[in-house]
Amino acid sequence: MNNLFLHIENNKVVGTNGVFAMGYVVQLAERYSLGQEDYQAINDLWNRALKDMPGGAVFLKQDIFQEAEFDTRHLPDGNYLQRETKQHFKDRPFLAHKCHIFFVLPPGDTFTTKITNPFKRLNRKKFERFDDRINVFINTVEQAVNFLNGGRINSGRAFQIRSFEAGEMVDYYDYYFNNFQNDFVTDRILKSGYIQIGDRLLGAICTRDEEHMPESFPELQSDRNFSTAKYKFYQNIGDLLGFELPFDHVYNQIIYFEDNQKQLAELRRRHDLLKKSSTFDPQNKVNAGKLGVLIDEIAADIDSERLVRTHINVLFYGDNEAEIKSRRNQITEKFKSVDIKTRQPIGNFLNSVYCNSFYLFSGNFSDQQMFYGHLSLATLFINNCTNYKNDAQGVLLNSRIANIPVTVDTWDEEKKYVRARNFMIFAPTGYGKSFFANHLFRQYYEENARMVLVDLGGSYRKLAALYPEDTAFIHYREGTAIGLNPFDLQGDKLSASKIEDLTEFLITHYKRDTRASENEKTALRKIIEAYYEQGGAQSLLKFIEAVREHKDTLLAELNIRKEFFNIEEFLFAMSEFEPGGIYDFLYADESNENLVRLKDKKIIVFELDEVKDNPLLLSIMLQLISSVINETVWKDKSTRGYIFFDEVAKQFKFKGVLEKIEYFFQAVRKQNGAIGIVLQAVSQLPESGEFGQIAKTIIENTQVLYVLHAKDYTALKERFGMSEHAFHQMSSLTSDFEGKNKYSEIFVMRGNQHQVYRLEVPEKVFWAYQTEGAQNEQLMNIYEETRDMEEAIDKYIKKG
Ligand SMILES: Nc1ncnc2c1ncn2[C@@H]1O[C@H](COP(=O)(O)OP(=O)(O)O)[C@@H](O)[C@H]1O
Ligand SMILES: [Mg+2]
Repeated sequence: MNNLFLHIENNKVVGTNGVFAMGYVVQLAERYSLGQEDYQAINDLWNRALKDMPGGAVFLKQDIFQEAEFDTRHLPDGNYLQRETKQHFKDRPFLAHKCHIFFVLPPGDTFTTKITNPFKRLNRKKFERFDDRINVFINTVEQAVNFLNGGRINSGRAFQIRSFEAGEMVDYYDYYFNNFQNDFVTDRILKSGYIQIGDRLLGAICTRDEEHMPESFPELQSDRNFSTAKYKFYQNIGDLLGFELPFDHVYNQIIYFEDNQKQLAELRRRHDLLKKSSTFDPQNKVNAGKLGVLIDEIAADIDSERLVRTHINVLFYGDNEAEIKSRRNQITEKFKSVDIKTRQPIGNFLNSVYCNSFYLFSGNFSDQQMFYGHLSLATLFINNCTNYKNDAQGVLLNSRIANIPVTVDTWDEEKKYVRARNFMIFAPTGYGKSFFANHLFRQYYEENARMVLVDLGGSYRKLAALYPEDTAFIHYREGTAIGLNPFDLQGDKLSASKIEDLTEFLITHYKRDTRASENEKTALRKIIEAYYEQGGAQSLLKFIEAVREHKDTLLAELNIRKEFFNIEEFLFAMSEFEPGGIYDFLYADESNENLVRLKDKKIIVFELDEVKDNPLLLSIMLQLISSVINETVWKDKSTRGYIFFDEVAKQFKFKGVLEKIEYFFQAVRKQNGAIGIVLQAVSQLPESGEFGQIAKTIIENTQVLYVLHAKDYTALKERFGMSEHAFHQMSSLTSDFEGKNKYSEIFVMRGNQHQVYRLEVPEKVFWAYQTEGAQNEQLMNIYEETRDMEEAIDKYIKKG
């Protein structure tokens, strides 16, 4: 142990200077995630947490921002696309951020003499008195931390706080005084304008007393760099001095708690002095006026508001004097933008600002370095934001800060944010919906999920070509057999759910513009069951034949009243699928080739572009898809299953289709799965009429949204009951498909959580997702030769 500490226990230390301190690590909210209400809520939390600090206590919040390079070691590299991604983001520069808070209790007037090492001459009694104060203090601090930890904003917890460990408390000394790293120890030399620490230079900018502050601050400021006529983001003053300063720096927020009455008396004394001298100096008169206003305010709510003194400083690093100067100017500009006149300490004064910002010494700031005010003023200076945070698992997206990768959990195993994982992707054509969907499903595939993707535009051909072993790509073509035979039991016994499935299948074929009644369904179930029991062949056409053969006796034998089931109508409609009918090609070949092929596939793509205008064929395909889902994805409850409809609105116009989709949205609840649909605009979900109710059910069962663009964000906000800030986040979406690092921006909502992410992919991954354009044709031509997508992409890129 170094000679700075007398006693250490967990996160509690007593320094040899008699100071008692407790330290914590704080996880703040993500930058850009907080709306106006959230900021107000957080400021309120700080005020309520800190208002009971005992007189003499000091609160130090230390936000450390460090230029860093993104560490990709944790990223997977099991396949081609993963390896590319890992390589692409390796060492990408960004500003790392850590936030620590300390609650400090200096011995104060317990020990009357102010000497560096007071312990030599202290008597036991005084120590015990200090002990009592410490015990009360620990209690207050722990209550405050618990309160903060439980504090909630719209999206959940505002903070996650953990105590420092004993080792961390001790090591903090070396960490602090060696440029915030633990690898080596350096020396410090005080030059006039800066301190040289190792091979880096350190400067500081700090606030002064209240005379150098504006008369008042707005409760919240708009984030000027991130607001336009269309949307508004907010920030605290503290946010100006965090990520907006893109270099190594430490933002220190120090609050002194004193006895309200004592402080008021002190202020009054200063006010008198200023008034007396105001005849000599007009500036004093102005200041006396300002102070007078402050005193009146304070006196008015002395019981409800806590009076504090605050010191704010920014310690910043540079590699040379020029850098120090330019950074100093950037910091001063930030303070100026809110009318604060700062001071650049040099020489010994700089040294003291630097040393006193270490937690054990933070009781040592002098009056001239602090400004009086309410606690609610001090908390405006608190920085409340940090970098994007990684979930323990999920898909890789990018942060809006520096585009570094971030893991986003869209599944939510523990259902922390969402009850239903169903999702929708919104954007007009060309904004990157399918590109993003490829990115999601590629990663779901890597996580071993199973998926059925239904498309009308060939957007998943690449995915199928990348993983041919695990993919079935079923392209319906006019005039060819489907290659799916739902009547085939594939060796299983006939189960109740299979009977249900076949009933729905038949209804789709013969009830085209009306619904089947319950009686009709019951009748069909009985007929199907009897057909199998009597050893009927596992074929739709044979089934129709059998019904025709026995049509006169069948209903009576099965105790079905004639009016319950219209056999003639059934046979008439079904005749279109029999030889000679217009749809005879569908079941001409009753092989079950496709279904057998699908059994163990992870990715099943149905490409329906050729049936999209035929409601009957579309419904039949959807019914078959539904059987496939039942038999492949949902049968296996141990793996996650996704059902996905791209360009679904083109299919909505047919009633049967929307009903099927509604069915999936509800049925998926009992499965280990999620269903997703792609829409161009929220207006594609009908609001009224008979489809309105269906759309409503679908919306109620959807808690995950991905928005890439919309013409009408208000409509989206209202239909999904989103917060005001979600609206501003969506309105701020801008993608960049032209720059060097191309990306799309995606608003992701998961229950109450919402944030804007980016999707940037390396070139090779781009070509794995790209399904359009002349260049893609070239790539596909190479693929035709190589039959290996990875090889084709490599070749294509090499060719330039
Ligand atoms: N994140 C991205 N990075 C780079 N290019 C993208 C990205 N997202 C989309 N694009 C480009 O935009 C095109 C259109 O995207 P696509 O997903 O087909 O749009 P949508 O499905 O919304 O009509 C893609 O072919 C691709 O070239
Ligand atoms: Mg698309």
